[in-house]
Amino acid sequence: MTQRAVITGWGKCLPPTKLTNHDLEELCETSDEWIFERTGIRERRISHVEATDLAEIAARRALACAGTKAEDLDLIIVATCTPETLVPSTAASLEKRLGAGNAAAFDLNAACSGFVYATSVVAALVESGFAERVLVVGSEKIRYVLDYRDRSTCIIFGDGAGAAIFEASDSGAGVLSTDMGADGESGKTMVFESCGTKGDPSSITDPSQAGLHFEGQAVYKMAVTGMAASATRAIEKAGIDISDVKLVIPHQANARIIQAAGRRLKLNDEQLFLNIESHGNTAAASIPMAISDAMESKKISSGDIVILTSFGGGITWGSTVLRWGERTAPAKISDAQLPPTQKTLLDILQPNLDFFNQYQPTTHN
Ligand code: UT7
Repeated sequence: MTQRAVITGWGKCLPPTKLTNHDLEELCETSDEWIFERTGIRERRISHVEATDLAEIAARRALACAGTKAEDLDLIIVATCTPETLVPSTAASLEKRLGAGNAAAFDLNAACSGFVYATSVVAALVESGFAERVLVVGSEKIRYVLDYRDRSTCIIFGDGAGAAIFEASDSGAGVLSTDMGADGESGKTMVFESCGTKGDPSSITDPSQAGLHFEGQAVYKMAVTGMAASATRAIEKAGIDISDVKLVIPHQANARIIQAAGRRLKLNDEQLFLNIESHGNTAAASIPMAISDAMESKKISSGDIVILTSFGGGITWGSTVLRWGERTAPAKISDAQLPPTQKTLLDILQPNLDFFNQYQPTTHN
């Protein structure tokens, strides 16, 4: 019997500090009305801790939900484009923190498509017999690369983490098909230069190169067509019809992108899951957090066909068609919490503001 990767646990970690559209009105030339109309976002969260800390809490919640112990994991994959350190990987740090001594661990960077890419990797490793129980986390501290004077980027992104446990099953449920792709030629439309090793060590602290470079409109157009085309390929591979699909959980890039892609796929509103209003765009964390929210709001039942679809920096895209397994309610609830903070929003953002204020941007959108 074919072994397929079934989601048996889910969890998320939203840092407590909110950055509302009204807060952003104080930081750059924008308005709540413009942001909500163009993106569907009202607020996002800003992390007072590192991406590894967010990942750990989401992972502990997903493990409890699955009723699984960390020592039973074969593999940990963390999808992130804002890792706390490149080496050790966030996944290796998690392996230690969780006590998952039997697991292999690596990070995967496909920007916003990271969680969907990781799901494809897990599906293949489960089918090949390499892994039986896998933790996948998407975790991001994107505020690190945001210049809060740049209204074309800072209004979109937020911090957070989401996690899922995948287990091998021959029940017929699990990942039915996957699609992945990339277009490096268009990669220049979204760049985090300072998080790599380009140039000399001194250039790491050059504020003029440290912010996220983002060509919003170009990415917007590619995202609508890219997500719809990728989901269509995955649907065809799975041999199903769009009317068989209970829920599409897209990367929460922008509500307008999601709705336009949904129209191309001929989905009705009930089939599209959105939580961007309260989360913003959290890159690789957005789909696993949305899975958690969809499960909490009882949007998915056992046997339902669910599609995950994403588009992001690289440029990358991917989609996964899966049949939901038996678990629709948590086996246990974890009491894991982030350390509390007394810091205000401004306390957390001030280092960003001070850093980017050292230079005058040459272009202003
Ligand atoms: O997660 C990875 C994938 N990410 C995405 O797919 C996101 C893709 N892009 C987007 O979501 C949208 O392109 C943005 C939200 C970034 C921008 O929305 P838009 O509808 O494409 O706006 P725009 O860049 O075309 O700008 C329209 C106008 C411009 O003014 P003029 O030239 O018409 O006078 C901008 O200067 O809106 C202005 N503008 C703003 N005004 C108020 C741009 N940003 C803002 C702002 N507040 N924050």
